[in-house]
Amino acid sequence: MIDNYTINKQINHRSIRKFKNKTLTNEQLTTIYKVFSQTPTSMFMQNASLLHITDEEQKKRIQDLCGQNYVGAEGDLFIFIVDLYRNQQIRKQLGVDDGRVHTTDIFFQAMEDTILAFQNVANAVESMNLGYVPLGTINDHPLKMLEELNLPELTFPVLGMQVGIPDQEPQLKPRLPQKFTCFENEYPKNFNVQDLKAYDEKVTTYYDLRDSNRRIDSFTKQITGAKLNNHQTDRDELPKELHKQRLCLDWK
Ligand SMILES: Cc1cc2nc3c(=O)[nH]c(=O)nc-3n(C[C@H](O)[C@H](O)[C@H](O)COP(=O)(O)O)c2cc1C
Repeated sequence: MIDNYTINKQINHRSIRKFKNKTLTNEQLTTIYKVFSQTPTSMFMQNASLLHITDEEQKKRIQDLCGQNYVGAEGDLFIFIVDLYRNQQIRKQLGVDDGRVHTTDIFFQAMEDTILAFQNVANAVESMNLGYVPLGTINDHPLKMLEELNLPELTFPVLGMQVGIPDQEPQLKPRLPQKFTCFENEYPKNFNVQDLKAYDEKVTTYYDLRDSNRRIDSFTKQITGAKLNNHQTDRDELPKELHKQRLCLDWK
């Protein structure tokens, strides 16, 4: 396998949830903005925006909505946003109708832009010897978060990212063996859960630093457990949130 600085960083990725009490320098911030801006963008529509949350009280309110004490704590908090508002405004102010901005197709392209920008920034962050944790929890209470962020229609917060100087050294979290995830030409449909035995054992040797040092359940136990079991959650408001934002209006 090829070994260079970038690849080394990528294959040694760990999510960081404890940071030193220091915010990003201007130079680091400018770099993040530049990398964000230069990410590939579907049909050159530039459908993503980045919100840096610096207001202490707002950070605390976002932390409460996310329910994770490292959100908005040490380091810097960013929110990656699908943004079709800007292009709608361009069309509107130049005298044309909204066209396809309310379709699922255009929303998908905006999601693609936003997620690529997220990972591009994530790689830049790690290359600066900083760490980050992605924050899907910004959508744990979608309607409340929309209100908190005071976002206009045609925008949608996709992921948060807490960034900073790492103050912990988590173990590398073992991933599925590639024979289960990387294929050539044809997707194999003969998956057999029994083949995951060795991987299951490996996963249980991982120590989770999230709460207190503890080992985690095997992979198959996680997949058959609470996370994916049927239950109601505010996250089920996501389709409502999309429609409230006048996104995916063709998706009933
Ligand atoms: C889309 C996405 C959302 C995530 N949301 C959260 C989150 O809200 N809080 C958190 O602590 N970790 C979150 N994570 C981090 C995952 O838990 C982590 O990537 C996974 O357990 C693998 O660990 P590693 O990143 O250290 O390799 C998220 C990761 C992804 C890709």
